[in-house]
Amino acid sequence: MSKTKRPRKQHTTLAHAGRDPARFDGFVNTPVYRGSTVLYPTLECIEKDAQDFSYGRLGTPTVEALQSALIELEGGDATLLTPSGLSAISTVLLAFASSGDHILVADSVYRPTRRFCDNVLKRLGVSTTYYDPCIGAGIADLITDKTKLVFTESPGSQTFEMQDIPAIADAAHARGVVVVMDNTWATPLYFKPFAHGVDVSIHAATKYIVGHADAMLGVITTNAATTARVAKTHDELGLCPGPEDVYLALRGLRSLHVRLERHQQTGLALADWLAAHPEVDRVLHPARPNDPGYALWQRDFTGASGLFSIVLKPTSRDALAAMLDDLELFGMGYSWGGYESLILPFDPRRYRSVTTWDAKGPALRLHAGLEHIDDLKADLEAGFARLAANS
Ligand SMILES: Cc1ncc(COP(=O)(O)O)c(C=O)c1O
Repeated sequence: MSKTKRPRKQHTTLAHAGRDPARFDGFVNTPVYRGSTVLYPTLECIEKDAQDFSYGRLGTPTVEALQSALIELEGGDATLLTPSGLSAISTVLLAFASSGDHILVADSVYRPTRRFCDNVLKRLGVSTTYYDPCIGAGIADLITDKTKLVFTESPGSQTFEMQDIPAIADAAHARGVVVVMDNTWATPLYFKPFAHGVDVSIHAATKYIVGHADAMLGVITTNAATTARVAKTHDELGLCPGPEDVYLALRGLRSLHVRLERHQQTGLALADWLAAHPEVDRVLHPARPNDPGYALWQRDFTGASGLFSIVLKPTSRDALAAMLDDLELFGMGYSWGGYESLILPFDPRRYRSVTTWDAKGPALRLHAGLEHIDDLKADLEAGFARLAANS
């Protein structure tokens, strides 16, 4: 689509990938194509399927624009879009796992990923073994002749364990097993999955790519060995995202690096400030030097997003409610990656099975938005004062 003449820096790719103004009367952005029916001019054309677009579900110029930008950014072979991050995950799992197969899934994955394995895949005769996300090369011991796929997510949802993706990929590939990664946290900018041995990369574009909490979208990017299989399942499942949502993701992409730099900066500054706060027991943020995942983050990642967690010192539910209910800037909600700051209580003990969570106090996941850090600190400080007053 866009003319690639010289090698480009990533920021330039974000501004130019997936655009072709000459094709759209000079307009800078690829328009929103809404449509189901695509007309063929002749019998020969329909018999030979000789045009770029055939039917709305199978792609539009808007979809193609986002796909080509993401292929370029992640360095994959092909990109497919789905209506949500979770449907990207379920599509990939269904593409590789059949009745009688076995899959390995990190204990720290996004909880609905786990529910899909425990319910849908189980019903279809696929067995799942959860593994400690910090297992590294030890994953080899869990691979059986029936294992088809290793699912990774780094850092892990809510608790931010870093995974040794290259070590896991080496062990998996030695047994012909496909490695899939939910790369949502790092975005296509801060971790390059295909350069680290991943075969299929997934993003909930709902988060940072869209970036404004106003659309749902999933992205699957494949390497050459996995494209055909994933594309077939994607086609058979009949998945296609809404045109406006695709457009919003394209628009979000243009400013992704600028937003992420600020999310990263504010997130790290907040994490440092929280680590020194008397009400905070511990901070879970892999880009902080004293985090157990720091060495892996530093080796493999080129940046951090604005999502991390803290564990508070033990306190009562009423005190926690006093803190959270009256926050002015931090909203309580289940997403992240938008411009706004968020805070969410969580308890991994409720669903994890092979790792232990020994925190004594409540855990909170924070998303550092694009507000001024001083205002965010003041909001949290006032919350801590209410917490202390109600303890
Ligand atoms: C790590 C991760 N993966 C996938 C998803 C699912 O994305 P969606 O909500 O678009 O289905 C989420 C959503 O919170 C997530 O946090």
